[in-house]
Amino acid sequence: MKPRVFSAMQPTADSLQLGNFLGALVEWVKLQDTHDAIYGVVDLHALTVAPEPEVLRRRSRVTAAQFLAAGVDPSRSIVFLQSHVPEHAELAWLLSTFTGMGEAGRMTQFKDKSARVGESGTNVGLFTYPILMAADILLYDTNVVPVGEDQRQHLELSRDLAMRLNARLGEDTVTVPEPHIVKETAKIFDLQEPTKKMSKSFSSPKGIIEILQDPKSVAKNIKAAATDSDAVIAFDRENKAGVSNLLTIYSALDGRSVDQLVADYEGKMYGHLKVDLAEVVVNYLTPIHDAAMEWIESPDRLDAVLADGAERASEIASATLERLYDRVGLLRPSHRR
Ligand code: TRP
Repeated sequence: MKPRVFSAMQPTADSLQLGNFLGALVEWVKLQDTHDAIYGVVDLHALTVAPEPEVLRRRSRVTAAQFLAAGVDPSRSIVFLQSHVPEHAELAWLLSTFTGMGEAGRMTQFKDKSARVGESGTNVGLFTYPILMAADILLYDTNVVPVGEDQRQHLELSRDLAMRLNARLGEDTVTVPEPHIVKETAKIFDLQEPTKKMSKSFSSPKGIIEILQDPKSVAKNIKAAATDSDAVIAFDRENKAGVSNLLTIYSALDGRSVDQLVADYEGKMYGHLKVDLAEVVVNYLTPIHDAAMEWIESPDRLDAVLADGAERASEIASATLERLYDRVGLLRPSHRR
């Protein structure tokens, strides 16, 4: 039996950016070959930021569509929406009774987020968010969780909870998950302000590269990227952030190392690099963009994939929850026995 991998994304954007795409989805797709994979769109998590209902619905489909377009294969892996499997919220409640106040209060992402909006603007869901995340993971006897560095502490909480459940309820109660921290091999910066991370919230539309953006406008953004004025193609993050960023993106998509690219572009002009890179990016993104649009434009087909995913996920999740409910001493209704 293959080890199980579980990961998830919140439906909080109308498109993934190139950076999330390369950092997360490319890794998820690879892991399907060696693991039994389950990938979720965690819509319950997204409620913590109070999205407009229509926006949440749209983004839930758009996020799933991008998983599929990237190459997550629903005939092998499970793709589902978190809210379709009620056991997530149910296990989160149980886990919250195993979580210390101090332990939850130490989560730095909550502290950062709540500091930004102030205590009055924050909600309890944001506080218990890592517990819901632990439920996502523990429901599926997950062995490996690929996540970015920013989720390391949340993963640590999931592990602590798993070990606590096993200590209190019996050693084989749940599987203790291992983090698989996806190294940012290609940390991608804003095209206009290349010292800042490329990010929907902080960038102008000209600074970002999105999967669902028209590839022609991606090409335009690359050609208009900010560079310095000394006209030497070299990798120097301190003094030549713009060119270095273009080289990073180029290398991530084309396979040539940054050093090789620098050698290949010796004596050439920035314009030359930009034109070539625009073509590389457009060739890379077009099939993914088109596949995602096809899924988005056939919501019935997409919803059928999600329904099938939810059914397969439920089978695993309900068995786990049943085991836990029984072990903590909840009387099981006779109709379930
Ligand atoms: N918190 C994660 C993020 O913001 C998303 C997430 C929710 C997740 N549940 C998960 C990731 C379970 C991995 C496993 O990126």
